[in-house]
Amino acid sequence: MPIFEDTDLFTRGVGESTDVVTKEMYTFEDRGGRSITLRPEGTAGVMRAVIEHNLDRGQLPVKLFYRGPFFRAERPQAGRYRQFYQFGLEAIGVNDPQLDAEVIAIAYEGYKRLGLRDFTLQITSLGDRASRDTHRAALTQYISALDLDEETRLRTTKNPLRLFDDKRPEIQKQMQAAPLLKDFLNAESRENFESVQDSLTSIGISFEVNPRMVRGLDYYTGTTFEFVHSGLGAQSGIGGGGRYDGLMETLGGQSLSGIGFGLGIDRILLAMEVEKVAPSVERYTDLYVISLGEIARRESFILVNQLRGSGLVVEQSYGERGLKGAMKAADKSGARFTIVIGDAEISTGSVELKNMATGETVSVTLSALATTLADKSR
Ligand code: HAM
Repeated sequence: MPIFEDTDLFTRGVGESTDVVTKEMYTFEDRGGRSITLRPEGTAGVMRAVIEHNLDRGQLPVKLFYRGPFFRAERPQAGRYRQFYQFGLEAIGVNDPQLDAEVIAIAYEGYKRLGLRDFTLQITSLGDRASRDTHRAALTQYISALDLDEETRLRTTKNPLRLFDDKRPEIQKQMQAAPLLKDFLNAESRENFESVQDSLTSIGISFEVNPRMVRGLDYYTGTTFEFVHSGLGAQSGIGGGGRYDGLMETLGGQSLSGIGFGLGIDRILLAMEVEKVAPSVERYTDLYVISLGEIARRESFILVNQLRGSGLVVEQSYGERGLKGAMKAADKSGARFTIVIGDAEISTGSVELKNMATGETVSVTLSALATTLADKSR
């Protein structure tokens, strides 16, 4: 997927009531005067690609995944970056509660396999269009009686649900008695949401229903969800997603539903540090080669190249360093073995292979070095 797209894709796809579109996009004009935007999220771009390349003309659902950098001009803080990384997944073309549960289960299993425990899954349903319309009317009426500044009121005309997400205490207080979408779901939407919950329960996934959850993107319909980690402070969302039934059509494609998620890789790594399950990155060097003198330097350069070609991780000393300095560097490199090659070693064709952990040395011919090292590192 490209890192940037036409600005219009995100304005139409993500929605004009969202912070992402109104405040957080990195938008530029290119040399041809076209407005382009560094992708703030992946779903709109996936839809664009699916439509453009007719991926929706074969077997459905189309199941796709992506990962890479995304960009939002937010105020940086712990766990919130202007360039961040997501792993995302989209399943397009089938509207079945079991698919909703399957998508959620993939994220859930993913976190579990990484070793995370202190997270919860929150889910809700935005229902079908009819349910959303009835709720919207009731919510708009409720909001019209509230004491709001002009800017906030304007925002609510685009999407009244945004007000549930407003962090200001005076707004939160006023929203306490606001009508909730869950009470406006028609029979079909309610059954659908119950079926998603049953499917999750049947495979041992626990969740909380949070009817006040508002996702930051406008394309959501039906099931929406968020994974929240308890050890991360303010930026606690380690992933989220949901169903987006009108998105493909809005972007000029056929009327297919979809569901997916985006997992925040940066926050997952922070959560893994908090839970002390962060992966240890094992860095190792099999051999450190120290060469002394002009001829030895030339020969050992060729040797190092051969050893690397046989799959060994090899470092070497550079320049005309004294033996003492080079040994220090060998020590610091963490290499398992070291050899010193001077004129004598070149003429005899054998070296002393030093095990850096034990200090032991063995004599090895240069031609047997690769196999000896391969044996020893097994
Ligand atoms: P989102 O909730 O906006 O959803 O982002 C998904 C995840 O990306 C968040 O839960 C968070 O972990 C991470 N994230 C977002 N912004 C930042 C940031 N500034 N710094 C670090 N991490 C961040 C989406 O983007 C949707 N496209 C997900 C989706 C796919 N829905 C359906 N399909």
